[in-house]
Amino acid sequence: MFKPAPTDLTGKTALVTGASGGIGAAAVAHFAALGATVYATDIADSFDGDATYRAFNLLDNAGLAAAQDWIADIQPNILFNNAAIFDMGSVLDADLDQFDRLFGVNVRAFYAVMQSTAKAMVAAGKSGSIINLASQAGHRGEALVAHYCATKAAVISYTQSAALALAPHKIRVNAISPGVIDTPMWKDVDALFAKFENKPLGQKKQEVGDAVPLGYMGSPDDVARAAVFLASDQSAYMTAQTIGIDGGNVLR
Ligand SMILES: NC(=O)c1ccc[n+]([C@@H]2O[C@H](COP(=O)([O-])OP(=O)(O)OC[C@H]3O[C@@H](n4cnc5c(N)ncnc54)[C@H](O)[C@@H]3O)[C@@H](O)[C@H]2O)c1
Repeated sequence: MFKPAPTDLTGKTALVTGASGGIGAAAVAHFAALGATVYATDIADSFDGDATYRAFNLLDNAGLAAAQDWIADIQPNILFNNAAIFDMGSVLDADLDQFDRLFGVNVRAFYAVMQSTAKAMVAAGKSGSIINLASQAGHRGEALVAHYCATKAAVISYTQSAALALAPHKIRVNAISPGVIDTPMWKDVDALFAKFENKPLGQKKQEVGDAVPLGYMGSPDDVARAAVFLASDQSAYMTAQTIGIDGGNVLR
């Protein structure tokens, strides 16, 4: 009788950025539970999870360079490229300071981490899987979310270019576009919408959950399960794709 291969990350080395956040922490837990050796990084001094942790501020040139050196030492087979920040503003009020912060973390640091990981994989002659965190916001602009949407569109584009460049090295590159996922990021997002749309705190979060075709916000574990699929050999023939984990919010 046919027996499907189990999903197993034993012998793999995974790096997770933004590991203290909702989705990052779930990815660390899932990768570790499936046997991977996990390295985690975020901006906070300490980390509570099943991983070897180092703190880096990826918006800072020295912090980013130190993170890149660390990646060269770790030689990961799996990258969960997840650190990002959110802020709001329309083209009439989203200024260049906000542009520099959002593009600094969500695109510049994202790209540098992906590039260092790819170089380490190629130098070690290792196959690998790179998983980039995009967003439903990367598939469609929003009046009040100009810069963040643009950063996530860039993630989707870099995922495609990197996948094509790295395919000859047996390195797969895919992205996940979460919809609305109940994480610490949503406290800030909800507070910003309360300000911009003149709503009571908590109302926007309730509204976006109710509007999802499946009827509720996703959990970090929903995203981590897709990450496990992309990290494992279950997705061996898949590259250059962006998967929506959004309860049906975006139809492609
Ligand atoms: N939660 C959602 O609804 C949602 C929706 C779509 C996409 N996403 C994306 O999923 C990913 C994870 O989101 P989340 O909801 O878990 O967010 P989160 O805010 O809980 O986690 C993000 C993590 O990135 C870290 N980070 C931010 N700036 C950093 C810096 N300069 N240096 C190092 N680390 C830094 C933060 O400290 C934080 O722990 C992000 O890429 C986000 O854009 C989330």
